[in-house]
Parts: sequence; structure tokens; C-alpha cells
Amino acid sequence: MSDVTEHHDGTRCVRAGLPEPAPGQPFLPGPVFAAPYHLDPWTGPAAAPDGYGRPDNPTRRLLEAAVGELEGGDCRVFASGQAAITGLLLTLLRPGDTVVLPSDGYFAVRAFAADTLEGIGVRVLLAPTAGPHPAFDGVRLVLLETPANPGLDVADVAALAARAHAAGALVAVDNTTATPLGQRPLDLGADVVVASGTKALTGHSDLLLGYVATRSPELRDAVTAWRNVTGAVPGAFDAWLAHRSLATLDLRLARQTANAQALAGLLAGRDDVTGLRWPGLPGDPAHPVAAVQMRRIPGVLCFDLGDAGRVARFLDAARLVAAATSFGGLHTTADRRAQWGDDTPPGFVRLSCGVEDAVDLVADVTAALDASR
Ligand SMILES: Cc1ncc(COP(=O)(O)O)c(C=O)c1O
Repeated sequence: MSDVTEHHDGTRCVRAGLPEPAPGQPFLPGPVFAAPYHLDPWTGPAAAPDGYGRPDNPTRRLLEAAVGELEGGDCRVFASGQAAITGLLLTLLRPGDTVVLPSDGYFAVRAFAADTLEGIGVRVLLAPTAGPHPAFDGVRLVLLETPANPGLDVADVAALAARAHAAGALVAVDNTTATPLGQRPLDLGADVVVASGTKALTGHSDLLLGYVATRSPELRDAVTAWRNVTGAVPGAFDAWLAHRSLATLDLRLARQTANAQALAGLLAGRDDVTGLRWPGLPGDPAHPVAAVQMRRIPGVLCFDLGDAGRVARFLDAARLVAAATSFGGLHTTADRRAQWGDDTPPGFVRLSCGVEDAVDLVADVTAALDASR
């Protein structure tokens, strides 16, 4: 593998996880489709790195090397972000343990905690991303999600990790919204990163992916063992597509952030939009911590248009803003979160900037807001 740690973001993304150049070979080898592989009849599975597709796949290993380089730890990829998060929680938590989860993070994690974790006797405490957080004495794991989806509050990872470690708790950070170019939680003191790669990391709205990354060999091995027995692995083609997409991560994020800055400027000046949040705005409550902790601000912002009808009129009128959930893709999208059962007001919108030209987006969003009044 190439050692890319000394390079800048664009270079690191282009080269992450690529094998050493070999004449006649592609830059990124194509996907290896295999359930079983040929075995040596005398030595069995010990003779080769690949024996069976659930634990072993070379395409997946290259992607894990790439994401691991970007996060600064060992990586294991999963079939989706939810598979990675629930896998991490079930790897670490046992009946009688206490876990602290964000009260304002991705709602499906809270649903899993209420349905499954509490069902097996895990005590679940919820805390807002911006705090206050409870005392961590007796807590096994603190999961932070920063910036939080969808409200975009930010948690001070270094400060909370210090507090948690002093109390003997582990810290996991959901790095979905920031991506490893936006912040490196392992450098900030987190024990483990967990994320959905479905969003900006891969950014083409064409696959589901999740991952766990850590510097702890014990944690890595426990998560690997969990994945091997539960089987939530991504297919080879999705892993290959994800790796191919990583090469443009720096470019995509740069354009998305610039577009978010332009739209934040527009939305901040309108009297028919309330509750604007974007951690890049100097007046945003999350800005002071984000400015210190984050290397770049994501291209996602949120605001309130008052009611569901105005959101629908806005999306109908917009030509460049697609009504769609998820975020971080090449195309600008907006999602009225309450329609999914997320605990947000009826007119609350999460808007994810794509890589269109800022001038076109600003014109389109201005016209759609005017038309939807
Ligand atoms: C912050 C966050 N974490 C995890 C997930 C789950 O990821 P996936 O949809 O890939 O399962 C999401 C999905 O929206 C998310 O926003």
C-alpha cells in the first residue's frame, strides 16, 4: 500500500488504498466476485488470504485500506451505516451496561436502542449533541454524532473523550456528516469511528456502505469477529464503486462546502426562512467548536419553512433541488425530515448541496422560495 499520510487531502484521496503500481495492471483492480475461492486441498484455507467471501474479499480489503488511511486507523466496512453502528453497539454492550446516545442524532439509532438494546437489558441515556452530557461514571460507551443529523449541532470530541476516559468509558464518534476529511475523531481522542459511507464519503447516491475504524487491535478484532458471524458485508461491486468514488472526495466536498456557504448567505438574509443552521456561519451556535475541531464544514444545512405545504411548494418550484432523503451526493437534495418520523417540526428542511455551480443554485433556491411564499 502507498503511504499517503504526509500528503494533502486531494492527493491522499486519489491514492488511498491503491496497490503498488504493477505494469499491465489497472490503477484500481476491478471487483472480485466470489463466494467460495479455490482451496489448496492439502493445506486448506491457511494457504491463501481468501477462502470464503463473507470474511474474505480483496476488493473489500482495498477499500478498508483506503478508508483506514483517511481516518487514521484500521477499518472494517459493513453493508450500511446502520449495520456498522448496530454491529459496534452489539459488539461492545452487554446486559447491565449503560450507553449514552445522542438525543438529536440519526433517529434510527434511537429506534434500535429502544427496541433492541433496552430489550436485552442495556440502559440507554440520551444527551443532546451540544450538551449538557450526564456524568459518565458507570458508562460503558458514549456515542457522539457530530455534526448531528439533522440539526447540525456539534459536540466537542476532545473534551468529551477526556471526560469519558477519566470515567472508564469508551467513546465512539459517528463521522458520517463530516467525513474523514472534515474531522479525524481518532486524532481528537475517540476510541472508534463509525459512519455511513452512503453519504458524502462515496457521494454518488448509488450505494449503501458503513464502516468502523479504530486504532485498538482488540476493538478491531472484536468488530471483525462480529461481522464474520453476522455477515453484514457489502458486495464486491459496491465496495469497488465506493473506492472509485473516494478519489474525488476532496473535490466534491470543496464544491459542496462552497455551495452551502453561498446558500447560507442567501437564507440568512430572508425573512421567510427561520431556524437556519450551518456550522460554518460565524453566528451559528456550533461555530466556535466546529472552527477548532473541524478541517472543513459539510455541505449540509437546515432551516424551517413553517409548514409541510410550503416545503412541498418550494420543492415543486425548484429545478435544481430534488426532493430526496439522504445527503452528501453530487445532486442538491432537500428532505422534510418529519415525513420519516424524525422528531422535527413539520416545516423543517435538511438541504444537502451538490456540486452544481453556486450561482445557479442561489438563483434556483431564490426563485423557488419566492414562488412558494
Ligand atoms: C449520521 C448517520 N449515521 C448513520 C446513518 C445510517 O446509514 P445508512 O443509511 O448507510 O445505513 C445515517 C443515515 O442517514 C446517518 O445520517
